Amino acid sequence: MGNILAVVGAQWGDEGKGKITDYFAQEADVVVRYQGGNNAGHTIVFDGRKFALQSTPSGIFNPSTKNVMANGMVINPVALLGELDKLVAAGIDKWQLFISNRAAVVMPYHSMLDGAYESLKGGKLIGTTKKGIGPAYADKYNRIGIRMGDLLDKEYFAQRLEDALQVKNMELRMLGLPECDFQTIYDEYCAAGDRLAPYICDTSVLLNDEIEKGSRVLFEGAQGVMLCIENGTFPYVTSSSPTASSIPVNAGIAPRYITDVLGVGKAYCTRVGEGPFPTELLDETAHYIRERGHEYGTVTGRPRRVGWFDAVAMNHARRVAGLNRMALMLFDVLSGLESVKICVAYELDGKQIDYVPSTISELSRCKPVLIETPGWKEDITAMTSYDELPENAKKYIELVEKATKLDVSIISVGPDRNQIILR
Ligand code: IMP
Repeated sequence: MGNILAVVGAQWGDEGKGKITDYFAQEADVVVRYQGGNNAGHTIVFDGRKFALQSTPSGIFNPSTKNVMANGMVINPVALLGELDKLVAAGIDKWQLFISNRAAVVMPYHSMLDGAYESLKGGKLIGTTKKGIGPAYADKYNRIGIRMGDLLDKEYFAQRLEDALQVKNMELRMLGLPECDFQTIYDEYCAAGDRLAPYICDTSVLLNDEIEKGSRVLFEGAQGVMLCIENGTFPYVTSSSPTASSIPVNAGIAPRYITDVLGVGKAYCTRVGEGPFPTELLDETAHYIRERGHEYGTVTGRPRRVGWFDAVAMNHARRVAGLNRMALMLFDVLSGLESVKICVAYELDGKQIDYVPSTISELSRCKPVLIETPGWKEDITAMTSYDELPENAKKYIELVEKATKLDVSIISVGPDRNQIILR
């Protein structure tokens, strides 16, 4: 990596960003999560051990890496402590963590409301992770949110919580839910704040200092561009923007620093939760890919929906998230298929289009225009160079590059940290 690298999910999340950020975290001085919260599930496998991180940055395993949870995140302090305790229990206890005092706090009523809003939608669920992410961001924008730094000033926190509960308990009452008790939340969050106090600071100052002194900084996006609140398949999206363009505001740094943006995409597509998915497969091939790719949600355990690689969506990601290269993940999963397909355009009401329409009704009517190419039988999981790959596998990668106008600079051929081909 150069000095500053952004790793961004380029599809619907779960692309394997955890593995890529973990890979670059080996060389990074600082790893930064800049949006989302514990709705993310970044799986990292090394030394035969598997770790699922939800809100902590992927550099947490490397004692010399500074891990930053920036101001654009929504943080559940109780869940975060649970995550940190688990790491310590697994012998990972030499981390460096810095939590923005400006990051929004996920409160108990946020997850209650997340569940309630979902159940009110009848058949039109978003399929959220029910971690309270949307309601926490909504409170932030409504300016009744609580910030991590507030937990350090107990008097101010009490005031903020009291004000918030006035509104939130009214909402809970209207939804027929039990009200939240001030004292219970206050005690639990003060205790969590006390434990997290050593890590809470102004991470914008820290990041700017690091960048100015030439440190290598890795920005780790959560979710994926198609789940972006601004550019995704609204309303079937998360409530933050995982694009690289959101990094400056979400981390408190200048936009000029973000120039290298690596889009992470699977060699096929997956999606959890509801919403249109033009290349979705519902046949035997979906089953084959789901089982080989262990396509079950890290956070919720839900089976993921599976589809062919969507170059229209990847081009959308390239444009709106500023991608300049790509990592192709889970490539080994496709081995053994007779043929593989790539979606190069959509057919919408009889017309071919090469962009992602903004409305759900249009996107739901889009049929994928697929090109088919022969598959390969070889096990590629131990291959370490591009030249070793079967000819048909190389052809597939070239097709992806042509269709997306992106160089595939990294190919992942297995879950382990070392199962990676660099070009
Ligand atoms: P929320 O982020 O919990 O509000 O969920 C909104 C949508 O984003 C749902 O479809 C979730 O399944 C999806 N989502 C949220 N986080 C992730 C993730 O890390 N990977 C994949 N999908 C996610």
